[in-house]
Amino acid sequence: MTDTPAPFPAARFRRMRARPELRRLMREHTLTVDDLIWPIFVMEGENDAYDIPSMPGIQRLTIDRAVRAAEMAAGLGIPVICLFPYVDPARKTELCEEAWDENNLSNRATRAIKAAVPGIAIMTDVALDPYNINGHDGIVRDGIIVNDETVEALVRMTVAQAAAGADIIGPSDMMDGRIAAMRAGLEGAGFQNTTILSYAAKFASSFYGPFRDAVGASGALKGDKKTYQMDPGNTDEALRLVARDLAEGADMVMVKPGMPYLDVCRRVKERFAVPTYAYQVSGEYAMLQAAIGNGWLDGEKVMMESLLGFKRAGCDGILTYFAPEAAKRLNAGWR
Ligand code: PBG
Repeated sequence: MTDTPAPFPAARFRRMRARPELRRLMREHTLTVDDLIWPIFVMEGENDAYDIPSMPGIQRLTIDRAVRAAEMAAGLGIPVICLFPYVDPARKTELCEEAWDENNLSNRATRAIKAAVPGIAIMTDVALDPYNINGHDGIVRDGIIVNDETVEALVRMTVAQAAAGADIIGPSDMMDGRIAAMRAGLEGAGFQNTTILSYAAKFASSFYGPFRDAVGASGALKGDKKTYQMDPGNTDEALRLVARDLAEGADMVMVKPGMPYLDVCRRVKERFAVPTYAYQVSGEYAMLQAAIGNGWLDGEKVMMESLLGFKRAGCDGILTYFAPEAAKRLNAGWR
């Protein structure tokens, strides 16, 4: 900052805060419904839902219910819904073949939502963990998560998701070389307009715990994900990963988790000026809901304040389990 404010009392910052109209006038960042991506969990069955204990208010939904949820989200003006499947443990294998089955749960859900709800874009997740008997995002051989063989599997998975109608492919696996391979796979299969939102800077975080309950990966996971997800102490590495993924054909990039990594969002946006998103992950949601549920925090206010923080940090949008609740408040004129 080169300009120093006038000395008191010429400068009184409280003048501009004295009325809500003036506060609105000088507000630099705002949250809108257009900023929201809603992650949902799908499961097999019909007209059924299962509460996820570690994520109060969130349920796994059967496809028919997911279609209704998508209709509701579209009605609220949410632009994107993101699908995560709860895969029957009996379908999990070492090589994760279910991941690229054109009729797997995720692809059936995509088709059903696509057919019934034209007014919402669909994002799907690319990583092997829901299908992996080991719970890892990549194929495990002799205790090692093998990179290049995993990338081949991810390309098959990507093309199957695009064929089902996914508008945004979200690789969350953190293998090296995946974006270039996936982009080539999409081009080769005729999906020139399928976008990639790369989980470019995904940290090896303990805030993913409730999500792993939701997709049924907690029990399966052996060890941790530190050989492929980033060390929480790094930010320069995040910039190198973003540069790499953009060069390989990503349309958008993500930082994950969100609230503990807003510094990374800020650095990414300033350096690259590309569409930048953050994932307010399951543990962040659980943490807020726990305090809200105890009456320790005002739910509406902390939800909106936490989401506005992402905008201030430079994000163009946020993946958040609060999306419908936040959209309702915004549509009701929340400021
Ligand atoms: C799987 C994946 C994870 C999340 C999104 N995709 C979990 C993980 O990497 O273990 C986490 C989302 C959340 O915690 O809300 N690749």
